[in-house]
Amino acid sequence: MTDRALALVTGASSGIGEAFAHALAARGFDMIVVARRADRLASLAQRLHQTHGVEIRTVQADLATPKGIEETLRAVESSGRPLDLLINNAGVGSYGAFSGLEASRELQMVDLNVRAIVALTHHVLPRMIARGKGDIVQIASTTAFQPVPYMATYGATKAFVLHFSEAIAREVQGTGVRVLAVCPGHTPTEFQAVSGSARRSVRTTLQPAEQVVQEALDALDQGRHVVITGRPNRALAQVSRVLPRRSMTWVIGRGFKPR
Ligand SMILES: NC(=O)c1ccc[n+]([C@@H]2O[C@H](COP(=O)([O-])OP(=O)(O)OC[C@H]3O[C@@H](n4cnc5c(N)ncnc54)[C@H](OP(=O)(O)O)[C@@H]3O)[C@@H](O)[C@H]2O)c1
Repeated sequence: MTDRALALVTGASSGIGEAFAHALAARGFDMIVVARRADRLASLAQRLHQTHGVEIRTVQADLATPKGIEETLRAVESSGRPLDLLINNAGVGSYGAFSGLEASRELQMVDLNVRAIVALTHHVLPRMIARGKGDIVQIASTTAFQPVPYMATYGATKAFVLHFSEAIAREVQGTGVRVLAVCPGHTPTEFQAVSGSARRSVRTTLQPAEQVVQEALDALDQGRHVVITGRPNRALAQVSRVLPRRSMTWVIGRGFKPR
């Protein structure tokens, strides 16, 4: 029986999730990593095992479906070990005027970005509370702080993640369980190609995925409820506190308008 801690990382096949897997392996975590691309997960698992000697179990699952969520939870239960850390990272975006986007894709995004997070958190949280320890990290976004024209559904899913996480972080205060919402800004990953958002008219400061993860893990160590990663992103997030809502959508709409 190992004394290493166990983490579940969703969306570990690329970008921020993959960077989390590397950082956690370096911290000595065994992991269950989840995504749809099994080949990517297998090569990640092999690399992390070789480099850090940790045990990685891969789960090929579509978390936008109830079946994928069940398969993931089954993998956690069948490990026979308590989960020390859940990283709810898997997420997708879409880009363009809402009326022109495919309804099925928007709904799939809500299923992944919202439903899967609620389901995984709801399964894991009572077990962590009963044990008196455990951490949950929810990947939100700076789009959570204001409505986002041309990424309307995506921004709204991230507002959900932020509010949901902050509320639960308060509920579990004093139980030994910690919940952190991470709000990255523009991070160069596969997200831009998958969502189509590379066509945005205004470019913003980029922060590498590794830095997002470092700031997130530091914030978790400090017991914070929310972290906006990157100094320029922290400054931008303050704008929504002072601008009237209608002016805010005008400013953000200009920045996100397709070229
Ligand atoms: N990049 C940014 O600028 C940015 C900014 C703020 C917040 N975020 C958030 O950061 C998180 C990670 O995104 P990223 O930037 O790292 O993008 P990414 O490189 O596209 O990674 C997304 C990950 O989610 C997985 N995924 C997508 N659909 C899935 C599904 N149906 N079931 C299971 N896994 C699925 C992908 O794996 P498979 O395709 O193999 O399934 C991949 O591992 C997301 O929640 C995103 O909203 C990103």
